[in-house]
Amino acid sequence: MQTKLTKLLGIRYPIIQGGMAWIADASLASAVSNAGGLGIISAMNANADWVREEIRKCRAMTDRPFGVNIMLMSPYVEEVAKVVAEERVPVVTTGAGNPSRFVKDWKAAGIIILPVVASTALAKMVERAGVDAVIAEGGESGGHVGDLTTMALVPQVVDAIDLPVVAAGGIGDGRGLVASLALGACGVQMGTRFLVAKECTVSPEYKKKVLAAKDISTMVTGRRLGHPVRAIKTAYTNAYAKLEADSNYPDEELEQFGVGSLRKAAKEGDAEHGCFLAGQIAGMVRCEQTASEMIEEIMAQAEQMMEGVRWER
Ligand SMILES: Cc1cc2nc3c(=O)[nH]c(=O)nc-3n(C[C@H](O)[C@H](O)[C@H](O)COP(=O)(O)O)c2cc1C
Repeated sequence: MQTKLTKLLGIRYPIIQGGMAWIADASLASAVSNAGGLGIISAMNANADWVREEIRKCRAMTDRPFGVNIMLMSPYVEEVAKVVAEERVPVVTTGAGNPSRFVKDWKAAGIIILPVVASTALAKMVERAGVDAVIAEGGESGGHVGDLTTMALVPQVVDAIDLPVVAAGGIGDGRGLVASLALGACGVQMGTRFLVAKECTVSPEYKKKVLAAKDISTMVTGRRLGHPVRAIKTAYTNAYAKLEADSNYPDEELEQFGVGSLRKAAKEGDAEHGCFLAGQIAGMVRCEQTASEMIEEIMAQAEQMMEGVRWER
């Protein structure tokens, strides 16, 4: 299936594996790229040395294009921004803000830039800055969430800018891919489904929780501090939500309560203190598969649904 996205990135299928803090490393990224999608290493809050090492590991495991996701609120953002340029990473995606100040250097290094946006305003800003495409992410997704749903956001971003748009948030199978194309997107970014990829090195407890999830198993916390995230409901999220609702509980202590919770879930599978980020499609994720099996299944379903349907893509 050729779309503007496959042509832009030089990949076989219009599927990006989204950056996932503490989870998306060279193992998962190279597996997705080898399977014909675009794998992404998550730079999260890691320093330049860690990111450089993962980039080199990924290069050793695939000769296909791959990317790095840069979290713009990272304390190491400046040094990581330099590393991706020095290493000439093929693709950079960004989260948590506006990457405009890095665009000139990244373009000079030949990098294809796709910021994640949750509004038409940010989409227009990054278009003016000279990025190549945007990823419009709705609040069904796992991780940090905006207010709009994918269904409402994607067509509005498509109408607002002249760049290719990738849909993210709530896409778990071929139906989601076809729906995204119908909304005017040229591909999808998925996170939650790839959590249970065999090549995903996240803790076994994390995978178990995703596989056991139902449609209503996730919730959003963190609105009070201005960075809402969607995660699987656990004793931790319930406790956080309770403290968040208590106006006598100080913001600083609430902030402290969340420190380290992503790492504890991803690396240690700590069900009591960990925050297991996952999206609403967790209820559709039924089995562990290789990244290649997932992508082939999604594409076969999408191709079958699209037989006889033709629109510009
Ligand atoms: C566990 C997890 C961690 C995530 N961490 C990041 C991150 O560090 N940076 C980022 O831009 N997006 C992050 N995301 C969002 C994903 O890249 C992707 O856009 C999202 O998962 C798509 O929605 P879905 O979960 O419904 O597939 C994360 C998502 C999950 C599930």
